[in-house]
Amino acid sequence: MNTASTAPQTQHRTQVCIVGAGPSGLLLGQLLHKAGVDAIIVERQSPEYVLGRIRAGVLEQVTMDLLDEAGVGQRMHAEGLVHTGFDMLFKGERHRIDLHSMTGGKQVMVYGQTEVTRDLMDARQATGLPTVYEASDVAIHDFDTASPKVTYTKDGHAHTISCDFIAGCDGFHGVCRASVPKQSITEFEKVYPFGWLGLLSDTPPVHHELIYANSPRGFALCSQRSHTRSRYYLQVPLTDKVEQWSDDAFWAELRLRLDPQAAQTLVTGASIEKSIAPLRSFVTEPMRFGSLFLAGDAAHIVPPTGAKGLNLAASDVKYLCSAFTEFYKDHSRTGVDHYSERCLRRVWRASRFSWWFTSLMHRFPDNGEIGQKLQEAELDYLIHSEAGSRSVAENYVGLPLNFGE
Ligand code: APR
Ligand code: PHB
Repeated sequence: MNTASTAPQTQHRTQVCIVGAGPSGLLLGQLLHKAGVDAIIVERQSPEYVLGRIRAGVLEQVTMDLLDEAGVGQRMHAEGLVHTGFDMLFKGERHRIDLHSMTGGKQVMVYGQTEVTRDLMDARQATGLPTVYEASDVAIHDFDTASPKVTYTKDGHAHTISCDFIAGCDGFHGVCRASVPKQSITEFEKVYPFGWLGLLSDTPPVHHELIYANSPRGFALCSQRSHTRSRYYLQVPLTDKVEQWSDDAFWAELRLRLDPQAAQTLVTGASIEKSIAPLRSFVTEPMRFGSLFLAGDAAHIVPPTGAKGLNLAASDVKYLCSAFTEFYKDHSRTGVDHYSERCLRRVWRASRFSWWFTSLMHRFPDNGEIGQKLQEAELDYLIHSEAGSRSVAENYVGLPLNFGE
């Protein structure tokens, strides 16, 4: 029996229905609120679950500006760490890329995505605007028309939201992209033959800036969340299971991939979290299907080398908010019609950088000894060439939103 069609339905109406309350959905909700556009957010998980996900934590200026615009930048400015450079380690030696001098004074902010999400959640709660958590059976309908709908079940009760637009902010495994007919969408994908084993610990960071290490044993990254909390990563084979890695084994392997000074300075301690993530480059074209707009991880995934994921999500959301605001305030469809094209240009550039940086820093099983030698030669070139260093730096701090226009 089809209970969905016979059960009583609660009807809701809004301008924009946002599917997913990750950073993309929450930031869009906040920006639309500031712009006077109505939105309801529907999320499959609980707030605690959403906050439990640990992801990269390097914010570009464009993202910082957007968080300020959304009115949620206060804690980021107070607690985030401004970094004006980072180290690249190869052949046992570290070399600094000076972001500040290479980019005319630009910098990045080290502030965890969990904290960004928490700030956005708190701001949403303060507005009292509707966010439906733990919604099941979320489905989208009629997005090839101007009257799309989102349906879901909450506490056994069926709901329908009628809206003008659906924002698909429901991540890589969400329902929105999956609902688009196969003939209307092209997906580009590359899966890398390794993963990242991440460890979070309440220990002081080994260095005041990040260290990206190319080692014959595989890539390593020394990152941080604060002066007392560190985040480290090791490249591991895809076949490794996190249970195989004791904390001691992690620290021992990390030491072997660092330079002697960092290996000696490294402060170890019990892990708070440890997990393995696969690495993937993935782009969906287009990003708009009638009244459905994909944003963030729902539309693209970058490998984490260079931490572009959240920053790309933020620029999608900026374009999407402008598109909806222009539609309601100026009665113009220009932003809506150009959304996909504007996003994809930036998405492909960041995907290119993330793929390149991943290729440069990791050990590829099929590339052998010559692969390692060629990477070391490229790194040697990059750090000694002003043009090379500048190119790394300008991509790392993030290309301007209007780059090339
Ligand atoms: N219905 C409702 N919500 C859903 C559904 C569904 N069917 N499927 C997934 N979701 C929710 C997820 O539970 C999650 O909270 O959508 C949200 C998507 O959040 P993210 O995966 O964090 O994606 P996004 O908000 O685009 O954030 C991009 O995350 O992976 C990083 O590097 C990436 O930093 C970037 C950021
Ligand atoms: C992180 O801190 O989790 C991090 C930082 C930089 C990266 C990737 C991840 O490039």
